[in-house]
Amino acid sequence: MIKKFPIIRPNFVLSDAFSLLRKTKSEQIPDALSFTLKKIIPLEYLWLCNSGISAFYLVLEALKRISPREEVIIPAYTAGSLVVAIKKAGLKPVLCDISLLDFNMDEGCLHKVISENTLAVVLVHMFGIPMQGIETLRQKIPPQVFLIEDFCQAFGSRIKDKPLGVFGDVSFSSFNRGKNLCLLSGGVIFSNNLQLAEKLNQLFEQLKFEKSYDIENCLKILLYQTATNPYFYALFCNLMKEFKQTTAPKDFEVARFAQQKMKLAQAVIKRFDALCLERYRIGYFLLKGLSGISGIKLPSISEDYFVVFNRLPTLFEDMDKLRQAKSKLWQVGFETSQMYEYTLDEMFHLNIGQEVLPNAYYLARHLLTLPIYPGLRKKDLEAIIATVKKICCH
Ligand SMILES: Cc1ncc(COP(=O)(O)O)c(C=O)c1O
Repeated sequence: MIKKFPIIRPNFVLSDAFSLLRKTKSEQIPDALSFTLKKIIPLEYLWLCNSGISAFYLVLEALKRISPREEVIIPAYTAGSLVVAIKKAGLKPVLCDISLLDFNMDEGCLHKVISENTLAVVLVHMFGIPMQGIETLRQKIPPQVFLIEDFCQAFGSRIKDKPLGVFGDVSFSSFNRGKNLCLLSGGVIFSNNLQLAEKLNQLFEQLKFEKSYDIENCLKILLYQTATNPYFYALFCNLMKEFKQTTAPKDFEVARFAQQKMKLAQAVIKRFDALCLERYRIGYFLLKGLSGISGIKLPSISEDYFVVFNRLPTLFEDMDKLRQAKSKLWQVGFETSQMYEYTLDEMFHLNIGQEVLPNAYYLARHLLTLPIYPGLRKKDLEAIIATVKKICCH
């Protein structure tokens, strides 16, 4: 059977699925997730909810209770759900161009779009890569503007010994499918800010718990692991398209993280350090192998960073070669993805234009992301590198 590696694959093992079937009363399950998360991101306050996007929405609702400002700055190329959350909170999205060095928000452009009405800036660490300059950003931005870190794609990445998630006033991440720490779904908020913590506590008191059924989750894990197994993926890839969200949802539910899923979290987080190390190792192997190929641009990554890649972004100068690489890589067994394909300007018809956001438009057109997860062996990575080399050097 021809092996096909999907673009993303959660790292469950069989015992994770069966951990859900252990007969334990939900109130007896220790909150091992919060305990471990606080060790990874050493901040005072933490809240668990049902998704990354509701985490972001709740942060915005809390900020609205502190400041009358209405604008929220986000990078022009990122998950569309951020705009949906900003609008749901009754606030205004403002787009900032990205940098073609690290593919994250461009700090120079950021200073130009901050106004008297800026409530918050969302610093998104795309693909697992830390936003350049984030360590010193707080000192350069007016204190009335809140810095929110979105590390949904970058859980586990660090700058020197500091994990992403500690650089803003508040941060959030996701445990959705395809994320570095996957628990089927879920989100988390971290902060050290007491005023914000009080508002978030009030908001959480009003929230219900998300609906969660152990048997259903157990089956989902089994199905998902089987469908994304490289030996079976060729059979399931069309079905899996339904689960790969590249467009923004219309709306979303906001709830607390289901207590029953703590059993799953307890099982999965034991392997988290090892998973991060594998993603880091695979990412740097691909980066090294692909560097120097003409016509390919790779993110430039500071030596101080420990990047837990969610996937590897590459920019193809020639879009024809991008299409060829996509199709050839699939033929030799590797799924790749162009991710969102559109800027947020296009997705939400904001009419800001390519002249103002040239890099975001370029990225949306020229991006091809490569798979990175444990299970890809050295010879698989070498096959990816050789295929890209052959196409670009032709
Ligand atoms: C950068 C970023 N922010 C936020 C989200 C939303 O997270 P969730 O899917 O858990 O709602 C995602 C999900 O893809 C994301 O990639």
